[in-house]
Amino acid sequence: SPVKRDATLSDTYVTETSELADLDWDNLGFGFQPTDYMYFMKSTKDGFFSKGELQRFGNIELNPSAGVLNYGQGLFEGLKAYRKQDGSILLFRPEENALRMQMGAERMCMHAPTVEQFVEGVKIAVLANKRWVPPMGKGSLYIRPLLMGSGAVLGLAPAPEYTFLVYVCPVGNYFKEGLAPINLVVETEVHRATPGGTGGVKTIGNYASVLKAQTAAKAKGYTDVLYLDSIHKKYLEEVSSCNLFIVKDNTILTPAVEGTILPGITRKSIIDVARSQGFKVEERLVSVEELLDADEVFCTGTAVVVSPVGSITYHGERVTYGNNGVGIVSQQLYASLTRLQMGLTEDKMNWTME
Ligand code: COI
Repeated sequence: SPVKRDATLSDTYVTETSELADLDWDNLGFGFQPTDYMYFMKSTKDGFFSKGELQRFGNIELNPSAGVLNYGQGLFEGLKAYRKQDGSILLFRPEENALRMQMGAERMCMHAPTVEQFVEGVKIAVLANKRWVPPMGKGSLYIRPLLMGSGAVLGLAPAPEYTFLVYVCPVGNYFKEGLAPINLVVETEVHRATPGGTGGVKTIGNYASVLKAQTAAKAKGYTDVLYLDSIHKKYLEEVSSCNLFIVKDNTILTPAVEGTILPGITRKSIIDVARSQGFKVEERLVSVEELLDADEVFCTGTAVVVSPVGSITYHGERVTYGNNGVGIVSQQLYASLTRLQMGLTEDKMNWTME
């Protein structure tokens, strides 16, 4: 094994080689790529997590009666590590992911790791796989922490044991369009979330339930689906895998997160960056009419970063956005955020972690 372990702290994990993995770094998409190690940690009976460990990346064993398999007791997170010019590696706001996992665990009746345990697991997984962190400018290492009910249950109840696992994959652009604007269709029949449901937490079922609408939209040539609220069917919620923003007369609008929308960490960061640059940002109900009348539309998410929207189709009518969808505001915010994530600008917000 190329990993030496002599203490529990992540910075004592050292891979023997700092050479890059053998990969076509110029053509990374967002696909699964096995890497070397994953971090694994189980809860004890009293609900606390004990010390985790690195394992060779590979299949895991689960009891067929595990809570996650039978009743969907599962959460995931997504964050990224970027390689800096000098070779060091930066994480972006990992504590935010830890806190969001704790929020989700509370909603799903699961035990979650502490913020320190979460961040430690993430750091260990990244350091053990550092040869898979793309060279600067070629992409990032996508980090996928999972929390699952791994204990056996038969009757409907919270699982008696939980497993926290972190695996990583080198990635480039999320959408097949690359950095080009994407084309969304507004879904008017299927809803992603309802008030009182689980739309505001990152539980695995939220993603399985959008696959049907997403697959149908892709078959018609759209990139993805934009969901509306399930009560009035006129207010914007989010896209299958990301949050949505519109720009009108230099004001930036985004749906407020009030339980049915995932509180994205990129969403929150973009709001802060935009405000720090003098933009007025409003978090509120945003109607589909305002969307169709917008000057610019873009999506945000860990995987999608900041993706410009070129067109929206609503009830068969297609609206396109200026300059082929590459709006000035989204371009500016994309540049500001990614330069910060790659350590190219001073981190005044204190968001990055080496
Ligand atoms: C992310 O952006 O990290 C997500 O978790 C969305 C996922 C569907 C790729």
